[in-house]
Amino acid sequence: MYKVVEKRDLAPGIHLLEIEAPMIAQRAKAGQFIMLMIDDKGERIPLTMADWNPKKGTVTIIALEAGKTTMKLGTVKKGDELRSIVGPLGIETHTQDLGTVACVGGGIGIALMYPTVRAMKQAGNKVLSIMGARTKDLLILEKEITEYSDEVHICTDDGSKGHHGFVSDILKKMLDEKRPIDVVYAVGPIIMMKVIADLTRSYGVKTIVSLNPIMVDGTGMCGSCRVNIDGKTKFGCVDGPDFDGHKVDFQLLIARNKRYLAEEKTAVEKFKKEVA
Ligand SMILES: Cc1cc2nc3c(=O)[nH]c(=O)nc-3n(C[C@H](O)[C@H](O)[C@H](O)COP(=O)(O)OP(=O)(O)OC[C@H]3O[C@@H](n4cnc5c(N)ncnc54)[C@H](O)[C@@H]3O)c2cc1C
Ligand code: FES
Repeated sequence: MYKVVEKRDLAPGIHLLEIEAPMIAQRAKAGQFIMLMIDDKGERIPLTMADWNPKKGTVTIIALEAGKTTMKLGTVKKGDELRSIVGPLGIETHTQDLGTVACVGGGIGIALMYPTVRAMKQAGNKVLSIMGARTKDLLILEKEITEYSDEVHICTDDGSKGHHGFVSDILKKMLDEKRPIDVVYAVGPIIMMKVIADLTRSYGVKTIVSLNPIMVDGTGMCGSCRVNIDGKTKFGCVDGPDFDGHKVDFQLLIARNKRYLAEEKTAVEKFKKEVA
């Protein structure tokens, strides 16, 4: 069992949980994730490690309520114990000798972007962070990301903070101004990563995206997370989650991530009745 030592709500529907998992905390690297199971009846879901503390023996995850399991995670309290956590999984984000990196995060992708921004900076790269959310109340980790960034740009869809528009607008402006950018790293909704990859392709800027296919075991056994990269089948959990954004078949990923929509809707309705 894995004890929750801290639980905070960062924004409406966005929860931070710090969990005792000493073995995982020792080996965690930026870009890696865990598979978490809340209780015996629950499913396993993948969540990126937003932070970890090897001395304290804890890992921190930040989850957005997207459906039944993440809603249930929102009801977990400090002191509760979780059924299982497996990790660290996935290949760590490459950070060495990149130069100037534009890190772009949207929505809950900001939580995934934070350890990467920190690792990019600690590896000696120049970091330009662009973070976006629907509205200012959903902007998380601004202070933390600012600490490790040379520049931070904020965007909101409703204009409540920073640029009124999308993260891609800011990146396009930078590229049009011929700012030297060696690599773009993007994480967030699939459509955002597709837009960023389409944009940077025309400027010839290398772009890494952190993909979020549906994962079941997270260890390369089930094939649920398969994605098409440059015409070849790869597994998001063991070959990723980072991939060359210019080679990803995003349409296939979007279609595959919708394959359980009916079951997900039923599970949410059932869960709401249970907690009502
Ligand atoms: C490597 C990786 C890292 C992730 N990190 C984070 C994170 O740090 N914070 C966060 O909030 N979310 C993260 N996600 C997404 C998170 O796993 C899903 O939101 C969660 O599984 C949804 O489960 P649910 O029961 O709450 O919602 P559901 O109603 O079951 O699903 C809602 C949507 O979430 C996606 N989803 C559902 N089940 C899975 C699954 N088993 N694996 C992946 N996606 C699924 C589908 O697109 C689905 O339409 C990550 C996904 C991956 C693949
Ligand atoms: S989640 Fe099963 S192979 Fe990747």
